[in-house]
Amino acid sequence: MKILVIVAHPNLGQSRVNQRWVTELHKHAGQVTVHELYAAYPNKTIDIAREQNLIAEHDRLVLQFPLQWYGTPSLLKQWLDEVFTTTWLFGPGGRKVAGKELVLAISIGGARETYQAGGLIGYTISELTRPLQAFANQVSMIMLPYFKFYGAIQATDEQIEMSTQPFIRHILDPELDPRIARKRMFEEMQQKISMAQK
Ligand SMILES: Cc1cc2nc3c(=O)[nH]c(=O)nc-3n(C[C@H](O)[C@H](O)[C@H](O)COP(=O)(O)O)c2cc1C
Repeated sequence: MKILVIVAHPNLGQSRVNQRWVTELHKHAGQVTVHELYAAYPNKTIDIAREQNLIAEHDRLVLQFPLQWYGTPSLLKQWLDEVFTTTWLFGPGGRKVAGKELVLAISIGGARETYQAGGLIGYTISELTRPLQAFANQVSMIMLPYFKFYGAIQATDEQIEMSTQPFIRHILDPELDPRIARKRMFEEMQQKISMAQK
């Protein structure tokens, strides 16, 4: 499985979390393409054909970004708006991204407990990222479980380091799709029932 990680951090040089994750991603260059959006397009003029080709060559698309005002950094939104054109998606030879997997990897400044009903923020990350879920549905991508790192602002170096291997495992996991676990559970249940009936 070929994985494309779109890293959208407006200031990766100053980053602690995303920078550390990027360093780790580069160790898996055979399987993972790391594409740093702000470095690629400092003038914010996106090469749309290049981006579309990149996406077409990969099976899993990962959007890695720091949460900013409860959404994505602006260049990532621009990238979504400009790259996923109707013609490319649905034109001749279309449905270019249908069936590809989509994973979000988000660093979140606030603490985990604030992101819940009744908490300081009051909403979960799943709720705040509904537009991306609707986008995945609309273009027939398969939205998979996110990787989330809460408390990024206050995190110690040790906590950031400890997030790195779970992050990589998540990004590379070929069985992130819950349908795989569901199918396995179903088969195990069938097997148990047929054994019990013998
Ligand atoms: C403009 C801006 C907006 C931010 N908005 C949020 C936010 O809405 N919620 C939150 O929890 N953290 C927010 N943060 C904090 C970032 O998510 C946090 O600094 C980042 O995830 C840390 O990752 P890094 O070390 O890779 O930069 C914001 C930071 C900036 C600069």
